[in-house]
Amino acid sequence: MEDLYSDNDPHYRETRVPSGIPPPSLRDLKRSEDLSRYNPALLRPMNSRDNNNNNNSSRYQPYPQEEDISRNRRQQQQQYQQQQQQQQQYQYQQQQQQKKPMYKPKPLNLQPSTSFLKCQTRLSVNEIIDLIKLKEVEIDYDFVCSKVQVENVIQLKGKSSHVPKEIVSQARSKSNPFERIGHGVFMNRAAMKLAAMDADFGLTATKGSNQFKFLDICGGPGGFSEYILWRIHSWGESCHGYGITLKMPTEKDEMNWHTEKFRVDIPKDSFTIIHGQDGTGDLYKPENIRDVESLISKETQNGVDLAVADGGFDFSGHEAEQEQLAQKLILCEIITMLSTLRQGGTFVCKFFDMFTEFTVDLVWLLYQLFDEICITKPLSSRPANSERYVVCRNLLVSHPTDLIEKLLDIAAKIGDKQFQFISRDILDKDEDFIDYVRMRNIKFIVQQTDSLEQFDMFIQNP
Ligand SMILES: C[S@@+](CC[C@H](N)C(=O)[O-])C[C@H]1O[C@@H](n2cnc3c(N)ncnc32)[C@H](O)[C@@H]1O
Repeated sequence: MEDLYSDNDPHYRETRVPSGIPPPSLRDLKRSEDLSRYNPALLRPMNSRDNNNNNNSSRYQPYPQEEDISRNRRQQQQQYQQQQQQQQQYQYQQQQQQKKPMYKPKPLNLQPSTSFLKCQTRLSVNEIIDLIKLKEVEIDYDFVCSKVQVENVIQLKGKSSHVPKEIVSQARSKSNPFERIGHGVFMNRAAMKLAAMDADFGLTATKGSNQFKFLDICGGPGGFSEYILWRIHSWGESCHGYGITLKMPTEKDEMNWHTEKFRVDIPKDSFTIIHGQDGTGDLYKPENIRDVESLISKETQNGVDLAVADGGFDFSGHEAEQEQLAQKLILCEIITMLSTLRQGGTFVCKFFDMFTEFTVDLVWLLYQLFDEICITKPLSSRPANSERYVVCRNLLVSHPTDLIEKLLDIAAKIGDKQFQFISRDILDKDEDFIDYVRMRNIKFIVQQTDSLEQFDMFIQNP
């Protein structure tokens, strides 16, 4: 192209042309790149335009010379090779692009588990008490899940432990679209989880005439209570809530009750905070559970209609042991529920993983004591975490005193080690139960693995 004239070139303007048709210029080249093959200007000696002193050579030569033809061919060949090279480079780049692992977002799971399990081999409360025997055991992840998958999740969870919080939170929002729901119109995200479960299970469905009563176990700062009070008052019915939670020091005040953050349309006197006998709200202390029991029995006829339990603490650095660390708290929550829920009442209890025998024993206990149970994970609960809820419908026997005492005894004895309190043979015989727990575990762990992998990808490439 450098050998062609431009319109401003003085040689181009000065050139006398016998035919009257000006020699091709860059303007002609723009019309079609291929025309260059027929372009007589290409036949001009390379230096003709530079050689201002030689008028003859600067003139247009209509008939090509031998050396000009071979130069022209060389140029054409060079051009052709260049084009070939460019094309090969382009094809190579395309191939490389295809070889790269393409990021494919995982399909969203828009269907939470809602199927209930009913016990077909129901035992009486006394039979259950007779079966309860505390025994130390080894962890066996293949019992109701898969050791390989559990270890993979533990490893994936550990990957982000040293990543700055800001990057973790950005990766979390990118990998989980439900993150954008945030806390909605309530004080925190917890309220949105209960709202999602209420939509699925009708937890706040009232019977009409009586005031609806509920107990919020380990409920601070109060998102669950705010949701229930708002929901029931919003359709003009009466509702009263009770709540107990661990009293926190000032530096962790955000976990204490914050009823001042409740929506303004919730009546001020519709919630009672229970501090327990020693004022700490600590459910590890049996006297505090008894305090809740005596207040509820005084203020309600038969107990509350709904008990919700959402206990947890900061597991940072101990994510792999989360399930074991939460066992005693879940047991104490179940004891509190058994001391306060009316017959026919509903219980919603947060669990973490359900891999160890002790946790499976707790679920089995609920399966025996309620008409039906459902292990679920609301869409607003982060898919990468181990949290899940057990929704229990229709308590069959209210306030089973001997069972409560037996369970308090177990709670006092368990510590760092791994235990079972129902023999494994008993559970293995109930195939319906074991299959149900295993299927749920597999479903959740597959989702969790996908989600952790996606999360890790966003950490590595924000
Ligand atoms: C995840 S938060 C509950 C959030 C709550 N559902 C909400 O909607 O705001 C867990 C709560 O369990 C409480 N907790 C932990 N250990 C406890 C214990 N031993 N006794 C009573 N509450 C406890 C914590 O103090 C914390 O307030």
